[in-house]
Amino acid sequence: MKYQAVIFDLDGVICHTDHYHYLAWKKIADEIGVHFDKTINNRLRGIGRMESLEILLGARSGEFSLQAKEELATKKNEYYRQLLQTMTMQDLDPEIKKTLDIIKARGLKLAIGSSSKNAKLILKQIGLENYFDAVSDGTIISRSKPDPEVFLKASAMLGVKPEYCLVVEDAKSGLEAAKAANMDSAAIGDAVKSGLADYQLKTLSDLLLYL
Ligand code: G6P
Ligand code: MG
Repeated sequence: MKYQAVIFDLDGVICHTDHYHYLAWKKIADEIGVHFDKTINNRLRGIGRMESLEILLGARSGEFSLQAKEELATKKNEYYRQLLQTMTMQDLDPEIKKTLDIIKARGLKLAIGSSSKNAKLILKQIGLENYFDAVSDGTIISRSKPDPEVFLKASAMLGVKPEYCLVVEDAKSGLEAAKAANMDSAAIGDAVKSGLADYQLKTLSDLLLYL
């Protein structure tokens, strides 16, 4: 068997929190009168909070002081966390849980590789708090995707060499990070069109064909 571990991105792969990121950023953009839509939101996938704000502000970035930007990012996170509070185990798609269980039963290790500082809260909300063998997230990295740090940390935590890890991503930045980490990758959702991945998935269960 080629792979010993699968490293999953969280937002947009395990659960639909990518939509909550969109809703929270949209609210900020409307408040300050900046145009923001789903196409721009796709560029924020996998990118850290402050870098995301810079992309959202675009040409208007110079109008805001560092303090004002930090306040906007904090406010966005408050809106986002209000949405996270509404999440329950019902928000974990049964097909996704089943796929994870099958991969586990085949003897592979499972990890999360997410740029989010909210990853552990999300896992708790959807009942996967103690499910993964390792959680590498925004709280332990200094550079977000496309930097490979988050995946290299996951591989070290698992004790599995990068070449035996497969990354699952909905973000172009995440596929770039996987490549930089010397890991194979599978794309789902928005990332499929980038053509950067080794495998293209229609649904997460397609992954079982390659493991
Ligand atoms: C993930 C999402 C990004 C988000 C980043 C930081 O990578 O795909 O859209 O900006 O996490 O999330 P946070 O929850 O820490 O603001
Ligand atoms: Mg994602």
